Amino acid sequence: MRKFIVDTDTASDDAAALMIAAFTPEIDLLGVTVVAGNVGVRQAADNALMTLEACGCGAPVYVGAARPLIKERKETISVHGKDGMGDRGIIHPTRKQEDKRAVEFILETVAKNPDEVELVVLGPATNIALAIMEDREVMKRVKHIWTMGTPGFGSGNATPVAEFNVFIDAEAYGVMLDLGVPTTVIGFDMCAGEIGLDEAELLALSKGNEAGKFLEQATKVLLQFNFDTRGVHMVDLPDAVALAAAVWDDYVQSTSKCHCHVCTENNETYGQVIFYQQGRTYESMPKIDNYNAEVVTAVSERTFTKRFMSMLLK
Ligand code: BDR
Ligand code: CA
Repeated sequence: MRKFIVDTDTASDDAAALMIAAFTPEIDLLGVTVVAGNVGVRQAADNALMTLEACGCGAPVYVGAARPLIKERKETISVHGKDGMGDRGIIHPTRKQEDKRAVEFILETVAKNPDEVELVVLGPATNIALAIMEDREVMKRVKHIWTMGTPGFGSGNATPVAEFNVFIDAEAYGVMLDLGVPTTVIGFDMCAGEIGLDEAELLALSKGNEAGKFLEQATKVLLQFNFDTRGVHMVDLPDAVALAAAVWDDYVQSTSKCHCHVCTENNETYGQVIFYQQGRTYESMPKIDNYNAEVVTAVSERTFTKRFMSMLLK
């Protein structure tokens, strides 16, 4: 069994990702850690607990950072609703979060399972950076980091050049990428466009299992946002796409080894990530050889929708 910790600022697409983790038999979901991002950290904990409940999964939930490492917490437009879950009044978990803090849980778990734990990071990287700052040696024994972050090779959604998770805490993202464990970046370019759920699929979910029905409700505000801003009747699920990349090995079609540089200067480039790709010649630069991530450059959209839907219709 693969040992996973999912770190999330739980909104609707994070919930979809947690569903894949909960329903994949090869994954031992050791715990879910939450961080402020899409919503405040307490709301994120309740959203995660409620999502796991909808999946019949008893994985523990640990509360982490309420604000980024250095910057103030930004007020952003919530594309997922005020509660991050469609504002449908569906968040009333019966379980509670654990007393232990997220960073303590991450460090303890990695120390107990050296070279075995995979971290899936679906929100700002604050908890991961705090754990690295507290005990880098322990964090060096993480087996793999999978992160939904950066625009990839497309454009940003928080600013023209920055993707939301990195934009909220770019300093933390830099600390995480500098850790030096195998890291896979799934950028927003892999999650936008056709990949996601359309009107017919959402209707099917409303008649699916408990998790499916829950997700259909949780994505209502996102659906409206996409319609208002892009005229499309569909929901994109970046975090689910990222988690799928971590678990379905026939789903990722290509990656590019890169040196990723996170811009933290306090100007309009804040949160931008520059990718120096292996095998490319940059005429004004010496050869780069300090690669810190594999960046996903193609996934199978059909595989995503087919597998994801079948999990939620069972
Ligand atoms: C990321 O930002 C959030 O809105 C989503 O949950 C996802 O993690 C996409 O840019
Ligand atoms: Ca997220």
